[in-house]
Amino acid sequence: MLRSPGQPFGLYVHVPFCVTRCGYCDFNTYTPAELGGVNPDAWLLALRTELELAAARLDAPTLNTVFVGGGTPSLLGGERLTTLLGMVRDCFAVAPDAEITTEANPESTWPEFFDAIRAAGYTRVSLGMQSVAPRVLATLDRVHSPGRATAAAREAMDAGFEQVNLDLIYGTPGESDDDLLRSVEAAIDAGVDHVSAYALVVEDGTALARRVRRGELSAPDGDVLAHRYELADARLTAAGLRWYEVSNWARPGGECRHNLGYWDGGQWWGAGPGAHGYVGATRWWNVKHPNTYAELVAGATLPVAGFEQLGADALHTEDVLLRIRLRQGLPVARLDAAERQRAEALLAGGADEALLVAEGDRLVLTDRGRLLADAVVRTLLG
Ligand SMILES: C[S@@+](CC[C@H](N)C(=O)[O-])C[C@H]1O[C@@H](n2cnc3c(N)ncnc32)[C@H](O)[C@@H]1O
Ligand code: SF4
Repeated sequence: MLRSPGQPFGLYVHVPFCVTRCGYCDFNTYTPAELGGVNPDAWLLALRTELELAAARLDAPTLNTVFVGGGTPSLLGGERLTTLLGMVRDCFAVAPDAEITTEANPESTWPEFFDAIRAAGYTRVSLGMQSVAPRVLATLDRVHSPGRATAAAREAMDAGFEQVNLDLIYGTPGESDDDLLRSVEAAIDAGVDHVSAYALVVEDGTALARRVRRGELSAPDGDVLAHRYELADARLTAAGLRWYEVSNWARPGGECRHNLGYWDGGQWWGAGPGAHGYVGATRWWNVKHPNTYAELVAGATLPVAGFEQLGADALHTEDVLLRIRLRQGLPVARLDAAERQRAEALLAGGADEALLVAEGDRLVLTDRGRLLADAVVRTLLG
């Protein structure tokens, strides 16, 4: 398979297991009760086969980043995560300075776990914290105690991890401004170099969506979400964590290189059930169910459910959509004449504050523009 030369290359591995399903989550993940056949060991065997098939398809890329996500990768434990990284190294060259991340859930981590994965070569840990407010954690169906995520972050740093992320969610029904501020403060106090903060999305088909439909919970309000974003941004910025993507803040050098690859035109292989990949101009996605996945790879077949060849228009839309959300901005040269004209209106702001600012040859969202990033994209693309 042909890659565009000179661009970073990543590997994403999807771990499709969770102990319980959080009511808001629509990621491709399964509880033990939902899985008949495939357990973590069988999944790991299937993954090895997919990695071997992937290596045979590709022209020997060197991996710059590896990201093990889920689901709950920490459920695999230190030993299986070590085996997993060994399998990756058996199939691919991994750059000496590669960023190797695993996601982890606070309740399935402990000091020895972090020691083991650090020794295996992981360089970065991303923990789902979401909030410190007990009522928010309860509404989100999180099973960890309010203090466990920051304790886990400290354990990871004690084990030698310099790159640790905490994920927050804001706008949960019943959350107050103070709940959010205390959560942001706790993340900062933990001393991590990266925080992601996501507005709660009520995804169709989730338990949360059913509760909202029944009127038990109210959907997050747009103005409240914007205010909470501003609160979080101000606190994180004051603490030295700077936004580098609309929902991501980091200390200088703490940016997630793997995710930057997604947003900045990089290419990656997506392995595991439901994983997406993007190489050349081809995007594909794997079958979702772990049992179907295992059956396909057992027959030495790539477990692909579908693929698309992105044309020039689709590539351009993606380019604008993703790059405009980055602090480094969107190079003006990537826009056509009509789009540049529409950008002028956003730079001027009209009756309102401007949504874009020009920095050299790039367009960067203003503070207000970050709250309206989707509208900026719609305007630019016309
Ligand atoms: C899919 S999870 C995987 C990591 C891990 N299992 C966990 O829960 O911490 C990655 C992150 O996505 C975010 N997320 C998942 N569903 C979301 C939703 N409906 N709205 C906003 N953020 C969401 C959460 O912050 C979560 O930490
Ligand atoms: S948010 Fe994380 S722990 Fe909860 S169901 Fe989704 S992947 Fe699993």
